[in-house]
Amino acid sequence: MRRGKLLYAQSGGVTAVINATAAAVIETARAHGIKAYAARNGILGVLREELIDTSRETKSAIAALHHTPGGAFGSCRYKLKSPDQDPAEYARLIEVLRAHDIRWFLYNGGNDSADTALKLSQLGRRMNYDLHCIGVPKTVDNDLAVTDCCPGFGSVAKYTAVSVAEASLDVASMKDTSTKVFIMEVMGRHAGWIAAAAGLAGDGPDTAPHLILFPERDFDAKDFLKHVKATVERVGYCVVVASEGIRARDGSLLAEAGGKDAFGHSQLGGVAPRLVDLIKQHLGYKCHWALPDYLQRSARHLASATDLKQAQAVGKAAVEYALAGHNAVMPVIVRTRDQPYRWKLEPVALKRIANREKKLPKSFVRRDGYGITAAARRYLAPLIQGQAEVAWGRKGLPRSAKLRLQAVAAKLPIYTI
Ligand code: F6P
Repeated sequence: MRRGKLLYAQSGGVTAVINATAAAVIETARAHGIKAYAARNGILGVLREELIDTSRETKSAIAALHHTPGGAFGSCRYKLKSPDQDPAEYARLIEVLRAHDIRWFLYNGGNDSADTALKLSQLGRRMNYDLHCIGVPKTVDNDLAVTDCCPGFGSVAKYTAVSVAEASLDVASMKDTSTKVFIMEVMGRHAGWIAAAAGLAGDGPDTAPHLILFPERDFDAKDFLKHVKATVERVGYCVVVASEGIRARDGSLLAEAGGKDAFGHSQLGGVAPRLVDLIKQHLGYKCHWALPDYLQRSARHLASATDLKQAQAVGKAAVEYALAGHNAVMPVIVRTRDQPYRWKLEPVALKRIANREKKLPKSFVRRDGYGITAAARRYLAPLIQGQAEVAWGRKGLPRSAKLRLQAVAAKLPIYTI
């Protein structure tokens, strides 16, 4: 065993494949003879000294993480203040890391989590504590800067495209005597990547989804209703995919579920029923709507094999970067070819990624604003390729990992947050 331990933690909204990254981290650390701990509930587990000894897990339990959705060690939305604003919090973090001889810290999350990993790396330098911090990419929103795509996105994209394609066949059967409009709301916050992925379900002007509402475009109710009506009159029915983050011209969100998280992000959700009300009131069509919500980011049964591979690769690379002495970097995915799809990983400085949000480029949105372009298809199509294997159990349900989650004995006084 080498001196020092590696600490891995999960942060932000979880995905269908984040545990595959965790498994890759733990397996790679083991292969290098490094003891790996995991923090319970992300950075909160570090502050609270709630650490899990992953060396107590069997090889097969860790292997089962490759096909288990959710975040096996618990996640969190918790924003560290700046070291000047809250020096005590930083002193505590270093105290916990020191107490357990943590020399490598891997934080698996999105842009807010990259900020946390960056702050910790700066803290190590300032406190003269030898610490290597690596951000590990993950987010269904696909909005991380620099990387070509984010682990977690390919799977939500596949789930979305497949669900829209299937539901559209249902509506098409009902359209003559019953439902005329089906609306599916998707996640993604202020970036329209997931909404765009729905576009993969269609392959011609009148195939579903007929209208996609992107958060990057102002929502204009009158224009939207005009398009719904025209589609129903032309095609017989209309399938709409709406991003949870769509806004009116004045910047106000169409729907908020209420409440804000530690980063000040409003909880979104509820756009689909709003749109249905609008359509019923003005056009009188019978509508159905779906809000897959957590279903879309936990649908491991329909995960993309490409996404799974990338989630595993970033976990392995993160450990290798850390052990090679990198600090304050993230393994990012670099696309080298669209077809056949080829990609590689490269370390990129966290300061180029932390707190930035990559929106859907204009060139990906069709000129009328309600669909995707050929360029978007070229980008999106490879990410949903392949069906990640599922471990089906005897009861007809997928088998998920059962971890012991053995706590590491605390060495410090209790810290309450
Ligand atoms: O950031 C990923 C994401 O799934 C967003 O698309 C969504 O708006 C948000 O998380 C929901 O967050 P939470 O699970 O904390 O409510």
